[in-house]
Amino acid sequence: MKIIGTGRAHPAKVVTNAMLEEFLDTSNKWIVERTGISERKLITNERLEELAVKASLLAIEDAGLKPKDIDYIICSNVVNEYITPSLSCIVQGAIGAKCACVDVNVACAGFVYALDMADDRIKCGKAKNILVLAAEEPTRMVDWSDRATCVLFGDGAGAVVVTEGEGYMGSRLSAVSMTDSLHYMRCLEPTPYITKEELSAPMYMNGRQVFKTAVMLSSRDIKALLADEGLAPEDIKYYILHQANMRIIEAVANHMELDMSYFPHNVEYCGNTSSASVALLLDELHRAGKLQRGDKLILSAFGAGFTTGTCLIEWTK
Ligand code: UT7
Repeated sequence: MKIIGTGRAHPAKVVTNAMLEEFLDTSNKWIVERTGISERKLITNERLEELAVKASLLAIEDAGLKPKDIDYIICSNVVNEYITPSLSCIVQGAIGAKCACVDVNVACAGFVYALDMADDRIKCGKAKNILVLAAEEPTRMVDWSDRATCVLFGDGAGAVVVTEGEGYMGSRLSAVSMTDSLHYMRCLEPTPYITKEELSAPMYMNGRQVFKTAVMLSSRDIKALLADEGLAPEDIKYYILHQANMRIIEAVANHMELDMSYFPHNVEYCGNTSSASVALLLDELHRAGKLQRGDKLILSAFGAGFTTGTCLIEWTK
């Protein structure tokens, strides 16, 4: 498969570190030094599906297609206001597509997993033009009195359209069950028969453990994928990593013995937008004219699970 269009949508509200200082025991200095984040965009009166629709329509337009040309939709999403129907199904109706659609929840690694699923579906001849999107509102999962988590996140939606072609060169996906280090639980509706204790708790994250695991597994997967493809680290134009923390991106660059010019970033003004982050950054680079035909790109993300997804793309647009 190959990517033929990209799009993105951000919420309108920009929340700076100074605005967080007003109600949290935190500082701009701490947040910038530990995360690289200066501001993030947060959902206020928008609905996540509206951002998802906007990103999708931009990607379809960029691909030179119409919504009726899309024959499958894969949406990476962790939470939104609907438990059911799926976000992909809501987007399908709103954009006027008629195809089958599915949501995947692989936490922040979901966009790369979704791309990999799209590649499989195209390879087996079951679809021609697939909309792959990632729409996330992680700011609704955290406790806004918990300074260790709420300062990290932002919301947004990114999308690509893929079709038959030679742009997806390989991937590495992994999952290790480590539920203790990062999770978010919601109580379901009561029934007259439930006797177990159920928890409803905002996001819990052991930041240090996630940090170390992310650096170790991302570096491992990227090196393994490069070896699979017989490529040197310098053969890649950009490493488009999950935008969780600037220090994680710098640590991976260090492991790869590459300077930061290979690692574009937008975490400083978007925060961690979960699985949307890689899709948002890809669109930003494309629309800024920074991607040339033939460029090799590594997309790599990690998330709760613990899950990782890394793929190698040749830019063919
Ligand atoms: O996509 C989801 C994946 N998640 C991630 O990628 C997160 C990965 N982890 C991280 O990015 C970092 O671990 C954090 C940014 C979350 C935390 O940075 P850290 O350098 O690991 O700090 P820490 O958790 O060890 O905390 C150091 C200190 C603590 O105070 P004490 O115990 O040393 O007195 C915290 O209470 O910093 C304190 N602290 C804060 N201080 C000011 C934690 N959050 C804040 C804050 N402002 N917002």
